[in-house]
Amino acid sequence: MEVIIQPDAESVARVAADVFTDYARRESATLGLATGSTPLAMYLELIRRHRDEGLSFARCRAFLLDEYVGLPRTHEQSYYRFIRDNFTSHIDIPDDDVHSPDGLADDPTAAGLAYDRAIAEAGGVDVQLLGIGTDGHIGFNEPGSSLRSRTRLKTLHPQTIADNARFFGDDESQVPHHVLTQGLGTISDAGHLLLLATGSGKADAVAATVEGPVSALCPASILQFHQHATVIVDEEAGSGLANADYYRYAFENKPAWQHI
Ligand code: PGA
Repeated sequence: MEVIIQPDAESVARVAADVFTDYARRESATLGLATGSTPLAMYLELIRRHRDEGLSFARCRAFLLDEYVGLPRTHEQSYYRFIRDNFTSHIDIPDDDVHSPDGLADDPTAAGLAYDRAIAEAGGVDVQLLGIGTDGHIGFNEPGSSLRSRTRLKTLHPQTIADNARFFGDDESQVPHHVLTQGLGTISDAGHLLLLATGSGKADAVAATVEGPVSALCPASILQFHQHATVIVDEEAGSGLANADYYRYAFENKPAWQHI
């Protein structure tokens, strides 16, 4: 795992955008997208590069991590809509190639299996962007999630409902209690995991992810088992890392050929 500590959220977004730019320039790429507030600055930077520098996503397809159960796609907090409003409608990725779990499916279990099949049929995700919850979740895999889980229905932790109420007019009763989320096994199948965290509220979760035991109690700790995992944090989110000096030293002394 590579841990990259940046001075602020803007530099986190820029470094993450550099990684995504490299994938977008490939002959084709399958991008794993995340919602939430953390990736927004990276999406803005990629939109800017598309507009000002001709960066094209025309040969990319994308899969979202998760979706609320019960929200129609037209709901502005559905992740189907969120990713279009905040990213994909501003670039040249074909809209039909932007996939998300079907939160309105009559049979969520079958919908989860179908989603995993669609990812596999697309050849798998090349790079998966991840935020992290204050409880250590990735996607919506709450503490206790099986480390090998596949896309399935999950019940949100009350902490996550409280954290996300800000998107629903600060009204927790409006936040759906159930979600369809890629499992930790599904996420782990991606070729490269790129986890972003900013702000002091994420410091404990980041420390547990990078330096704690691998445990279902901190679902993001599954990154320790991945062959290509990158964690990019700002100073605040990295403030709980005991080995911060080594991570900085290693990043500053990387051989030029060794990309992120
Ligand atoms: P945030 O959410 O980016 O809005 O903090 C992250 C997450 O819950 O995965």
